[in-house]
Amino acid sequence: MEILVPDDYQYLYVRNEERPVYKIPAPVLRQTAVAITAVNKKILQLADRMIEIMKKSNGIGLAAPQVGALHRLIVIAPEDYKPTVLINPKVVSSTGEIVMQEGCLSIPGLYGDVLRPEKVTVEAYDRKGRPSLYDLEGMPARVVQHEIDHLEGILFIDKVDVATLHWTHPDKASDVTE
Ligand code: CO
Repeated sequence: MEILVPDDYQYLYVRNEERPVYKIPAPVLRQTAVAITAVNKKILQLADRMIEIMKKSNGIGLAAPQVGALHRLIVIAPEDYKPTVLINPKVVSSTGEIVMQEGCLSIPGLYGDVLRPEKVTVEAYDRKGRPSLYDLEGMPARVVQHEIDHLEGILFIDKVDVATLHWTHPDKASDVTE
């Protein structure tokens, strides 16, 4: 789907020091990220930089392709969670279905309803390179699924209920942005 950005949101789509996240239609957002083979200093530095950018952007999740790095690495920080790094994350099982509203730091200002599994079990390596399992539901489950999609070049606008798409300026939005 082609997104027409309203004039008064255009400035949010300019990538600069203040807003370093790649926005649509950057090709990197549509590429498939590559598995990480070693959790080394370079990867941890990337993770730390992503956490900084996520916080600065008032996001609750960020995937490496959104900062131009095609690695299978995501960071999440839904409410009440401290920032968590997931390396090579994979949904290994899921149950239920639920509609929740989503937004994306790569599509600032646009929000809409997306149907996804309600609960997921995610397998990933943590920042110490230890394999870990995460049983998630509610917002954390939502964020992780949204971010894992980014690793496949999939954006929420590919799955959204088009009738619910709407623009809300991020500064006044109580909506969350992934
Ligand atoms: Co996103």
